[in-house]
Amino acid sequence: MKPQTRPQTYRVKSFGCQMNVYDGERMGELLAARGIRPAGEGEEADLVVLNTCHIREKAAEKVYSDIGRLVKAGEEAGKKPMIAVAGCVAQAEGEEIMARAPAVSMVVGPQAYHRLPEMLDKATKGERATDTDMPAIAKFDALPARRKRGPTAFLTVQEGCDKFCTYCVVPYTRGAEISRPFDDLVGEARKLVEAGAKEITLLGQNVNAWRGEDGRGRAVGLAGLIRALAQVDGLERIRYTTSHPNDMEDDLIAAHGEVDKLMPYLHLPVQAGSDRVLKAMNRQHTAESYLKLLERFRAARPDIALSGDFIVGFPGESEAEFEETLALVDEVRYAHAFSFKYSPRPGTPAATMADQLPREVMDDRLQRLQARLNRDQLAFNRGTVGRTCDVLVERRGKHAGQWLGKSPWLQSVWFEGEAEIGDVLRVELAEAGPNSMRGVLRQAALA
Ligand code: 5AD
Ligand code: SF4
Repeated sequence: MKPQTRPQTYRVKSFGCQMNVYDGERMGELLAARGIRPAGEGEEADLVVLNTCHIREKAAEKVYSDIGRLVKAGEEAGKKPMIAVAGCVAQAEGEEIMARAPAVSMVVGPQAYHRLPEMLDKATKGERATDTDMPAIAKFDALPARRKRGPTAFLTVQEGCDKFCTYCVVPYTRGAEISRPFDDLVGEARKLVEAGAKEITLLGQNVNAWRGEDGRGRAVGLAGLIRALAQVDGLERIRYTTSHPNDMEDDLIAAHGEVDKLMPYLHLPVQAGSDRVLKAMNRQHTAESYLKLLERFRAARPDIALSGDFIVGFPGESEAEFEETLALVDEVRYAHAFSFKYSPRPGTPAATMADQLPREVMDDRLQRLQARLNRDQLAFNRGTVGRTCDVLVERRGKHAGQWLGKSPWLQSVWFEGEAEIGDVLRVELAEAGPNSMRGVLRQAALA
């Protein structure tokens, strides 16, 4: 590869989960600390970071077509962008990417992106660089101070997964479970609040597996961290995602009834309603143990909004087993959910299991499942009509004088009136749609 001009501008394109959004922001901060500025809207960036996701679909093919598009756009604009591939596809298929896509200068895995600046120096000299090491704690120590501004922020507290569900690539792409130290997290949260954050969402592939030692050397779990963060002045809301049923500690359930800043929302994936399928998935819980757990959350916080993830068409799933998923949905009545067709991931045990189901069966099941989940989401939204709640204003709406924010139950709420981004205002939920609520402002903004 020829030496390349040092980039002046960058763009990070993040795909997939919130963890990738967080990583994308931190890569941006790293580049900005090196004097590279974010490209403006519509401007061709000198350096493009594709922050990829490997969880489902033909992720790798998408990366190659994105690379092709960037090269073409660069040719048309008369300049060749420097391209870095980051994220979970980089981790899983780094070598192939380097071999197949000569336009790529850097391949960097999710645990190594703190080394992006050195890789950039190499790329500028014309050397291609790959780094897919997994020294997770080193990464966080090496990152510059947070610069993120805005009312909501993500904070990665835990990374990786030791659960090895048989369909999932995460244990391979993100590595073993690690928890970031308590003091680092409280420090980063304070920085985010100083920069304007009112709400922090704690992130982890198994966020409730987080363990640490608090300021007094006592062993604490996620609830202990949440209780400490609730003491941070200026922080109004705390959320966390994604949890695993088997890592749930009693104190986290209790915290939902005790910590005002902890929002009444729980995202707890179940994936399927049949115990045979759950076993084949290596979920290590049953439908009944999951339902019992939800009951305990509901007892601690009766208005809690429940959310889940589902996979339909896991290898060998029969029609009757799929109907057990529908029955579970009927029982829980989720406020929100994500549902996916099973997608065989290279290298996972499920990918080579017998009885992979035809696409039509998966399409049909997904449609039937989503019809119920949509029904329940609308019912949940309707059930909140008439309530007056706090709304955190996140951005302007489409029309003048219109604002968009989030209710405690993570519903999108739009309303009209005097407000500023970052305000927490009393809003009456007046009308329910499938995906949002119309609200009426019941409180004047404090000047
Ligand atoms: N196929 C379909 N969905 C998957 N998920 C994870 N791996 C797969 C796969 N191979 C879903 C699960 C998980 C969510 C993040 O993505 O529902 O909870
Ligand atoms: Fe994947 Fe299962 Fe780990 Fe979640 S718990 S990241 S689905 S292996």
